[in-house]
Amino acid sequence: MLHTFIRQTLFFSVIGLSFLNIAWAGQTASPSMLSDTCLGCHGPSGVSVGPAIPTISGMSDLYIVGAMLAYKYDNDADKIDEIIEADPDFEDVEFFERTSTVMNRIAKGYSEEEIKIIAKHFSELPFKGQKQNVDAGQAKTGAKLHEKYCEKCHEDGGSLAEDDAGVLAGQWAPYLEFTMADYANGDRAQPKKMKKKMQEMQEAHGDKAVGELIQFYANQK
Ligand code: HEC
Ligand code: HEC
Repeated sequence: MLHTFIRQTLFFSVIGLSFLNIAWAGQTASPSMLSDTCLGCHGPSGVSVGPAIPTISGMSDLYIVGAMLAYKYDNDADKIDEIIEADPDFEDVEFFERTSTVMNRIAKGYSEEEIKIIAKHFSELPFKGQKQNVDAGQAKTGAKLHEKYCEKCHEDGGSLAEDDAGVLAGQWAPYLEFTMADYANGDRAQPKKMKKKMQEMQEAHGDKAVGELIQFYANQK
């Protein structure tokens, strides 16, 4: 798929494959030691400097755990449900299928206990938006679209971590573009109601709506 290819090219050109070799040292260690491996791609303190890679600091630990389990077990719903049910700490974790270029390989290097520690670590660090070039007109339209179709689950303009729906406000626009393409292609699963809202929006406002939303998110710090 083209966007996957672009995504891979974008960050492998910066980081290089050799980096992956150190991802497997999953011993019991301090939260920051365990999380060190992530910083090479996700940036110092989990605030990404590469636009194809999401900032992960400041997201809720439940959201991060859900993502890591989907990656680790290659979207095997039965296996993931079993793990969620077996562990009271995972009670509120929701699993949605995800596409992955590298995270499936990375996540396999960590146990469930380590994933919990890492997720908590990043959830306690502040999310920081990057300065991005934004089309102010599109961002303004995007704000209205967000309010109507997305705010219910992505509160405070998409900045509230406690929604367990990631953090959209201040996220890198290229990452959001890849992600929205994954949703549109069905490469990533989404809550039923989110899909419905996306469809409603598309029908009422056409293809340009997604770009306008992304400009709105990218415009926030
Ligand atoms: C080699 C680069 C690389 C490393 C190392 C890496 N990541 Fe990622 N991460 C990515 C990319 C790229 C994505 C987008 C999904 C994909 O293509 O696999 C991503 C996505 C994620 C997401 C989903 C974010 C969202 O907004 O939904 C989480 C959570 C995450 N990574 C956590 C981690 C953690 C925790 C570590 C360390 C244990 C880590 N990553 C190490 C590159 C990396
Ligand atoms: C019914 C609630 C709901 C609605 C409405 C909703 N979302 Fe979501 N959204 C979620 C949840 C829950 C997740 C987390 C899914 C997961 O864990 O993979 C999510 C995830 C996302 C992500 C991925 C974030 C990341 O870091 O990778 C994007 C992008 C997104 N939503 C955009 C939107 C947009 C744009 C709208 C409005 C058109 C919208 N959502 C409406 C619940 C919703």
